[in-house]
Amino acid sequence: MSSRPIAQARFPHVATANPTPAAQRDGLLADPGFGRVFTDHVATATWTAGEGWHDTAVRAAEPLTLHPAAAVLHYAQEIFEGLKAYRQPDGSVALFRPDLNAARFAHSARRLALPVLPAESFVEAVTALVRADEAWVPEPPASLYLRPFTVATEAFLGVRPAEEARFLVTASPAGPLFAGREAGVTLWISDTLSRAAPGGTGDAKCGGNYAAGLAAQALAKEHACDQVLFLDAREHRWLEESGTMNVLLVTADGELVTPPLGTILDGVTRRSVLELAAGHGLTAVERPISVEELRAGCADGSITEVFATGTAAVISPIVAFRSTAGDVVVGDGTPGERTLALHAELLDIQFGRVPDTRGWRLSV
Ligand SMILES: Cc1ncc(COP(=O)(O)O)c(C=O)c1O
Repeated sequence: MSSRPIAQARFPHVATANPTPAAQRDGLLADPGFGRVFTDHVATATWTAGEGWHDTAVRAAEPLTLHPAAAVLHYAQEIFEGLKAYRQPDGSVALFRPDLNAARFAHSARRLALPVLPAESFVEAVTALVRADEAWVPEPPASLYLRPFTVATEAFLGVRPAEEARFLVTASPAGPLFAGREAGVTLWISDTLSRAAPGGTGDAKCGGNYAAGLAAQALAKEHACDQVLFLDAREHRWLEESGTMNVLLVTADGELVTPPLGTILDGVTRRSVLELAAGHGLTAVERPISVEELRAGCADGSITEVFATGTAAVISPIVAFRSTAGDVVVGDGTPGERTLALHAELLDIQFGRVPDTRGWRLSV
């Protein structure tokens, strides 16, 4: 599998012949929602076992043509990423820690036996697309969500790593993921359906993980919850993560506790929040957390706040859990002080409202 960088890491821009009229675009940007509006272009590259990565460009966003036997349609050989471009106070645009997404994308590619796109090509592709569709980057608090992905395109009905693949980045102006849920979200504790098991693909960002989680998410909705909280597959006892977010707890003695990596996604937001913890008087701790500890801690006040992190969700306060064993209310059922402070600091960094002392912003 080629990991040679794309020559010169170039994604030449071939402008669409049918750009969205500016007035229509501005109308869409006024209320983009989440994940339903798409920009005019995509970044793309093709990979074959013989040639490695080639045919790189930013070009018109058009429907894909795939053979009905394309491997991704049968064996789910697919990986993706999610990151955002943020409008800065001076009108420029910045990405948030895209190097971490590039590294995770490479990790996912190895796990799914897909070709590894070199990190510099990943960042170049994303940057080239944002430049081409710069007019689609909304004003805060909205941002431009970027979805890089690789799919196995080879037409072959046999189970082996495909010898042809396509990388694309599509972009979607996005408002808050949980619009109207600023007062906090409620999670359904899934004590039967698991998302990932040791040795599986839980730490890769592949479509199959999400397909496997949808039934649990539907169950969460049936129980009037916003999302699901997955437990470990072996004992159904240890907290893992939510459908699209990592989970963190604040304790009364000043710890910010989160489950360790392994079967969960190594979230960029999770990592960033752990790095910001000390500035909020919190000690970051990665260790297993049981459901019993969650229940008892929320009941006796030793767990004061719970929140979830993700690129799309940013930081979402979790104010309650529901489960077959009963409900749990966190604190007084409203977003916690630390949660709100971390949320505010993260947004200030992403939207360029404070100096970038950690080198987390990449100007496009
Ligand atoms: C399963 C899962 N966990 C955690 C996260 C949070 O990761 P990040 O902060 O990198 O967006 C996501 C979102 O990408 C996710 O899909």
